[in-house]
Formats: sequence, structure tokens, C-alpha cells
Amino acid sequence: MSFMYDIFFYSLWPRRALLRQHHALQCLGRAVASVRLRSIATHRLPPHADEASLYVHWPYCLKRCSYCNFNKYIPRSQNHGVMTECLQKETQTLLQLSQVSRISSVFFGGGTPSLAQPSTIAAVLETVSKNAHLSDDAEVTLEVNPTPAGKASLKDFVLAGVNRFSIGIQSLNEDHLRTLGRDHNSQHALLTVSEARTLCPGRVSVDVMFALPGQSVKSWESELEKLLPVCDDHVSLYQLTLERGTQLFKQVETGELSVPGDDVTADMYKSARRVLENAGLCQYEVSSFAKNNAVSEHNIGYWRSNQYIGVGPGAHGRFVPRAVGGAQREARTQTLEPDVWIREVQRHGHGTRRRIQLDHHGLLEEVLVMGLRMNEGITQQHWELFSPEADLQQIFGMSENVQELQAGGLLILNDRGLRCSWEGLALLDSILPTMLLELETFFQSRVSAETQTFRET
Ligand SMILES: C[S@@+](CC[C@H](N)C(=O)[O-])C[C@H]1O[C@@H](n2cnc3c(N)ncnc32)[C@H](O)[C@@H]1O
Ligand code: SF4
Repeated sequence: MSFMYDIFFYSLWPRRALLRQHHALQCLGRAVASVRLRSIATHRLPPHADEASLYVHWPYCLKRCSYCNFNKYIPRSQNHGVMTECLQKETQTLLQLSQVSRISSVFFGGGTPSLAQPSTIAAVLETVSKNAHLSDDAEVTLEVNPTPAGKASLKDFVLAGVNRFSIGIQSLNEDHLRTLGRDHNSQHALLTVSEARTLCPGRVSVDVMFALPGQSVKSWESELEKLLPVCDDHVSLYQLTLERGTQLFKQVETGELSVPGDDVTADMYKSARRVLENAGLCQYEVSSFAKNNAVSEHNIGYWRSNQYIGVGPGAHGRFVPRAVGGAQREARTQTLEPDVWIREVQRHGHGTRRRIQLDHHGLLEEVLVMGLRMNEGITQQHWELFSPEADLQQIFGMSENVQELQAGGLLILNDRGLRCSWEGLALLDSILPTMLLELETFFQSRVSAETQTFRET
């Protein structure tokens, strides 16, 4: 899966908890930092302002899964022609508003984008090619539900330009699939994976969820063993997040269902990492495993804080606009509700609902939070692209808290950069608040030093 329609709300283990803290910290720090740090926030261009990836959100589903709180709608009827026109229009507008001349990858996510017509996918890709450079071998991923109903043949999506599939199989256990409210069984999932592998060998990913009601470490391990012989070169594992307002949340709250406790969940994650590694699927990010280097280029772009443009209802983007000084990155959110979004695109060419300028501190927070999700972490060179004025050692090296994390074997800070250890990656949600606070402290000390210098001069 892509995790954007919003890096902060699209579920990836264990993001929710840590980002709630992250946001709290942001709110605490921002009021003070954003205004006074102007001199530190050099108005230079973040790296590669001319390049971005593109996320396209298809907001419709056939049925509501019991655990899902993504931006999705079950439509009574659908006008594919209008949706296609609006997705094309918004793609064109946002590309023109940005400084982007090159799209490195495209991800069609949802919702259920495999319910879109292949001609819609082809039309959006054509619009991209008309307005920017999209190389023939750029990664183009489509999220697929293995639901037999309503879906066009995967072959037609390949003919439309898709060259990678991300299939939401979630589980191979029929009871779990029923509890999750999925509208497919494990047989459908296996058939879809097999069809996708024939069409795009080595470029098929599967999404699997764990910590499900009634699941034990043993049953989870045997599910993984069943999955290994059929999966391709990429697996994404997601710990179930109980989302307020969902049916599953209520079922757990009322005691109708229960989910595994924290210790069991931690054991499930640990055992999955071991089982997948033994099968040659190397972990390269908290939730992502690949063999033959079949990593998701698109998601790596998010984790490296590259620019991205988000198109479609509720999509999020981060890019430097062409106007307004032309140097600072903006966080953009498109209107959530599809009918309203359609009207806005028809009227204004885009459905951007919110634009926030990311200050230097905000950008570095994202680089930190996203970068530490990867095994490789944040290299010194990468950090320097965003923070030429202070390297990782200067910001984190003197901190007692960071030294404690290092001594505990959770974090590694050396000449190469900053990254989590194997154990640390499993505890990222408890490591990040410390790191964000250190970054905050650094910025505060720079402000104090600047204020002091200003007074003296
Ligand atoms: C929003 S879904 C879209 C893909 C597609 N509609 C599907 O359901 O297969 C993307 C992925 O997010 C994950 N996901 C959705 N809700 C989740 C939750 N509450 N907790 C953990 N993972 C979740 C699932 O693994 C799913 O494949
Ligand atoms: S199909 Fe996917 S996006 Fe739609 S409700 Fe289910 S989990 Fe959510």
C-alpha cells in the first residue's frame, strides 16, 4: 500500500500513537518557533524542487470494512467520466502550480482504485506525461482489492500503464476475513496474487494485517507460512489499529470481540520479522519487506521526504509552489468529500482545501520521523540536504537522552548517520518523542543564541 493519502493518518504500524505525540509536540513548539526562526529557515529550495512523485486517491469502495476509517465512500452510482476528467484536471493544475517537471513514480491508492476503469488510469497517466516527464520505466502502482465483483481485469490495468500491484489480502484466515468485513475469501486473494504475479513478476506486494481479534502468535505464524509460498517479492505488514467510530472499535469496546494485548502483539511483530527474514524477505522499513530489492520506490520517496503531489478527494501533498516566494514547501490537503471535490475541481481546477507552509523546523521533523522508519535511517548526506547549518551530531550527539538510547542498543548515531537498531525499529513509537524533543531543544537554543546576538549588536 502507499501510505499517502496522508502520511500522518494513513495507517502504518506503529504510526498513530507516535504521531499523536508528534503533533502535540509540533503544536507546543510551533507557536514559538515558526515566527522567530526565520533567519534559520533560510528560504532556499529544498532538494529536487523539480521532481516529485504523484499519489492519486480513488475514494470509492464496494463495502465498508469493519476496521477502516480511511477517506472512502460507498456510492449509489458513479460517474466514471466526471471522475476521470476531474482527476486529470487536478493533476494538470497541481503540476502547473508546482515547480515539478519530472514525476518519479505514481501510486493509485484508495479506497479501492481497482474499481476505477482502466481508461481512467490511462487518462491520468497521459495527463502526467503531457505536463511533466514520466519515464517509461517509472514505477506505477495500483492498489487492488481481491474482490471478484466490480473489478476490471488486471491485464487491462497493465495495458493502461500500471506496472506494480499492491494487493490488500489482509489475512488468509476465513474467520478473520469475516470479522474484518472483507468481501472476499482467501481463495479470491490467492487467485488475484497469482494473476498479478503472472502480469508483473517481481512487482507484486501484499498487505497483511496482524493483532486481529482471536489471533494468537501461533496462528499468525502459520498464516505467514501459508503466505510465503504464494507471495511475490514484497510484503507489507500492518498491526491492526482500532479506529474510533469503526464497527470493530465498538465491538472491542463492548467486549463482543477482543484483540491481543501489547506483549502478544509485540511477539507477533517479532516473529513475523524472523519468519520473513528467513524466507529472504529483508526488512527495509518498519512495515515493509522485500526480496530481490523489489522495494516500493514510491514509498521510499515519502520516507526520504521527497516532494509529492496528491490528487483526488482527501489526498495530501508536499511540494514547493511556483509562486509565493517559490522556495518553501507546502503541505496541501484536498477536499475530502468526492461530490464537493468534483464541484471545486470543475470550478477552480483543483480541490485544495488546506495549505500550510512548512517552516524549517517542521520540515526537519518530517525528515526525522519518516527517515527513522527505514532500516538505513537518515544518512549524514541526506540530513545535510535539508539542514546544511547543523549536522546530526550537532543536534543529537550531546543529548543524554539520545546517548541513553544508544547505550540501550536502540539507536545508532555515527559518521554514517542516524538509524534505529533491529530492536529499536520495533520501539520507534517510544523513541521518536525523545528525538523530536531534542530537535525542538536545538531550535530553541538557536533562537536564544540569535536573540542574544541581536541584543548585543
Ligand atoms: C486503505 S487500504 C486501501 C487498500 C484496499 N482498499 C484494501 O482494503 O485492500 C490500505 C491498507 O491499509 C491497511 N489498513 C487499513 N485500515 C487499517 C487499520 N485500521 N489498521 C491497520 N491497517 C489498516 C490495510 O492493510 C489495507 O490493505
Ligand atoms: S476496501 Fe480498503 S479502503 Fe475500502 S473500506 Fe475496506 S479497507 Fe477501507
